[in-house]
Amino acid sequence: MTGPAQRDPRPLPDRLSMVDRHVLVTGAASGLGLAMAEGLLQCGAAVTMLDRDAEELAASAAALAGAGGTVQQVVCDVSRPGEVEDAVGGAAAESGRLDAVFANAGIAGGPGISSAEGRLYDLDWSAFDGALAVNLVGTLATVRAAARAMRPAGRGSIVVTVSTAGLRADNMVGYGYSASKGALANLVRQAAVDLAPDGIRVNGIAPGPFYTNIGGRGPIEPALEKQWADTVLLRRMGIRQEIQGIALLLASDASSFMTGAVHPVDGGAMVGAFGP
Ligand SMILES: NC(=O)c1ccc[n+]([C@@H]2O[C@H](COP(=O)([O-])OP(=O)(O)OC[C@H]3O[C@@H](n4cnc5c(N)ncnc54)[C@H](O)[C@@H]3O)[C@@H](O)[C@H]2O)c1
Repeated sequence: MTGPAQRDPRPLPDRLSMVDRHVLVTGAASGLGLAMAEGLLQCGAAVTMLDRDAEELAASAAALAGAGGTVQQVVCDVSRPGEVEDAVGGAAAESGRLDAVFANAGIAGGPGISSAEGRLYDLDWSAFDGALAVNLVGTLATVRAAARAMRPAGRGSIVVTVSTAGLRADNMVGYGYSASKGALANLVRQAAVDLAPDGIRVNGIAPGPFYTNIGGRGPIEPALEKQWADTVLLRRMGIRQEIQGIALLLASDASSFMTGAVHPVDGGAMVGAFGP
């Protein structure tokens, strides 16, 4: 059978290549965003790294200088939609194109419900508001700015970092995180419907527990590490490099038939059962 879509004659490595592609990553100074930026650079992309932490952003961008591709940095707080519009629009205008945007910046926003102070009875409204401002409003602002910048070209890929905590309940996170990430899972679907006619694809990544700085700097406490690992079928936490494969796939033309889905990268945590 054949149909209206034209077969791309390039072999798969070329469809995965990021050479001559411009990608913007938010929350790129640390953790998963930094790993995404690194992997895309290694595949030849020009990467704009966006973060609100100017000092760490400069250090991380400098550390990636030899990774391949070219690196730009922009300091911006995604919870301020006007700033995001300027930052994303400016990066697109400067490079002359914007092929993919990772709306990845996020914060934990307080303790999980497994600790006494994270339970509903003592809900900290400022922590709740903070999580929604960054994780939900900041992501929506990023997705909108990306869509506006991509619309004239009639193509683009937007990737939202959701969380397995947005796909089911999770006693390790608090209400602000759970509510914001749950909302993001539906935001991915809503924006995919809205933007499909403009040739813009929208997908989500739902990481399970990864070693990053989201829960604080320095080595994780062994008891906490075990608690997280015990939620995962592979019985361990993820290392940052393990997010790079899906980031490349979703940013590249190799995912041209993928939109509107949230993809777990979680060592099997969403399966919900363990073998013998
Ligand atoms: N680490 C995990 O286990 C895990 C699991 C599921 C989802 N996630 C998600 O992954 C994403 C990245 O988190 P991470 O784990 O790499 O954490 P991280 O703390 O290592 O990195 C987050 C980065 O985002 C930046 N940031 C925070 N608020 C910002 C804002 N308002 N504007 C701009 N930049 C901002 C921080 O400065 C930091 O550099 C988040 O959306 C998080 O919810 C992480």
